[in-house]
Amino acid sequence: MKVRKAVIPAAGLGTRMLPATKTVPKEMLPMVDKPVIQYIIEEAVASGIEDILIVTNRAKSAMDDYFDYYPELETRLLQAGKEKELIEVRRAADLANIFYVRQKQTKGLGHAIWRAKRFVGDEPFAVLLGDDIMRAEVPVTRQLIAGAEKYGASAVGVQRVSTEAIVKYSSVKISPLEERIYAVSDMNEKPRPEEMFSNYAILGRYVLKSDIFDILENLRPGYGGEIQLTDGLRELCMRDKMIAVDFEGRRYDTGNLNGFLEATIDFALDHKATGPWLRRFIKEKAKQL
Ligand code: UTP
Repeated sequence: MKVRKAVIPAAGLGTRMLPATKTVPKEMLPMVDKPVIQYIIEEAVASGIEDILIVTNRAKSAMDDYFDYYPELETRLLQAGKEKELIEVRRAADLANIFYVRQKQTKGLGHAIWRAKRFVGDEPFAVLLGDDIMRAEVPVTRQLIAGAEKYGASAVGVQRVSTEAIVKYSSVKISPLEERIYAVSDMNEKPRPEEMFSNYAILGRYVLKSDIFDILENLRPGYGGEIQLTDGLRELCMRDKMIAVDFEGRRYDTGNLNGFLEATIDFALDHKATGPWLRRFIKEKAKQL
């Protein structure tokens, strides 16, 4: 089993980040000096993915423009001797083979993934949520692909979260296979504490077999009236092998304000252009708090 393709659903309305996301896609908000989605594409590429499909909507054309060439700007940078900027601007456009499909109605994550059916065909594929940035020594998608290939299974990326936090995620029913890898036999979306299967929550990364498409196609709306990916995954794990990979790395949910700010501060502290200055600024600020 070889995973060559990835799907990035990025057609959500971003209501938790309004009004900023009314006209700017949340995936295009700057994380220090690059848009959020670039980090996600870089993770996919570093995980061995060759072709990437971004699921967008009518308000998100800034994304396809970003991953395109911009001759007028590039000529101006060249003339001004701004070689470093020119390289960065070009690099974004040359990162991967990027394709786009629109989700014409915002019917949920499961529906967005279903739009990738024609792109994916019958291969296994990775899914990376468009607003979840992972920082890890080994790219998280690569960790999932390694597990999926070893077990010939679909895979979901999980981490332990508190019982208070599990209500925001999908909880998985698991049994251990080896260190950090579990077999998945059931799951539920946004469970109340008494309904949860475990404290392991699915966090933004998946490797799925193409059987998921037939399941999604026949799914009825679930939680929140949306076609839920979790409902599809639940059926998939009952039909076929699925593993949970307790991945090593830190996840940032940039789709909510606090998560976005946490990521911005951490990334800016580690960035050579901003880190030393920000460290001094925070120390000064802390004295006043
Ligand atoms: P989220 O729930 O985090 O995104 O969906 P959202 O719907 O944009 O967020 P809020 O709640 O309104 O702030 C998880 C992922 O699924 C995508 C989102 O873009 C995000 O990457 N998604 C969600 C779609 O592509 N289509 C949908 O219909 C819903």
